[in-house]
Amino acid sequence: MTDETGRRADHAVDRLFLDRWSPRAFTGEPMPQETMLTLFEAARWAPSAGNSQPWRFVYGHRGTEAFQRIYETLDEGNRRWTHMASVLAVVLSQTHRKSASGEMRPTHTHAFDTGAAWGYLALQARLSGYYAHAMGGIDRDKAMTDLGVPDGFRVEAAMAIGRMAARETLPEDLMKREVPSDRKPVSEFLSEGRFAR
Ligand SMILES: Cc1cc2nc3c(=O)[nH]c(=O)nc-3n(C[C@H](O)[C@H](O)[C@H](O)COP(=O)(O)O)c2cc1C
Repeated sequence: MTDETGRRADHAVDRLFLDRWSPRAFTGEPMPQETMLTLFEAARWAPSAGNSQPWRFVYGHRGTEAFQRIYETLDEGNRRWTHMASVLAVVLSQTHRKSASGEMRPTHTHAFDTGAAWGYLALQARLSGYYAHAMGGIDRDKAMTDLGVPDGFRVEAAMAIGRMAARETLPEDLMKREVPSDRKPVSEFLSEGRFAR
């Protein structure tokens, strides 16, 4: 199966999985709040351990103080293109919760659960005509402080959401990299019964 991104699946998945990729060229157009909420609604329905739903998101629309606050937490490399995103968001997860006895206990699956929520959101973005591009390149300490994140939460990543623009709108070096990537074959990460070295 090949889709318009030129990606080819070896097994019959829905084309949505091939259509989702991480462009850097965005139009900068406003994203209606209701459309944005649709993406977070998809995240809402992700599964999590004990239905703990440990994900949190802090967002800002382009042109607002909230956007600027998030933008300034991003690495220089990410700031080169995210200024044209319609929405920037920081993805957080709850690392500790209070037990019945009042003690703070680690929640071992917070990152796994929050990753699932991000994945749902990214797929819904495509269904809604948008792209969500995750970023690990964020100053986590600055984000914790500037966004007022309390103890017991961790900054997992940031993301840029928007409609894709022509790759020519990017600086030349980024333009050259603006191509959907391929993947390892399933056989490289799947083994039966025992870990394959
Ligand atoms: C947790 C995470 C962190 C990432 N960090 C960055 C980043 O800081 N900057 C960036 O431009 N892309 C970043 N990416 C995008 C990845 O490079 C991209 O998802 C990967 O190359 C696969 O390509 P695709 O999403 O287009 O399929 C990140 C993606 C994830 C999931």
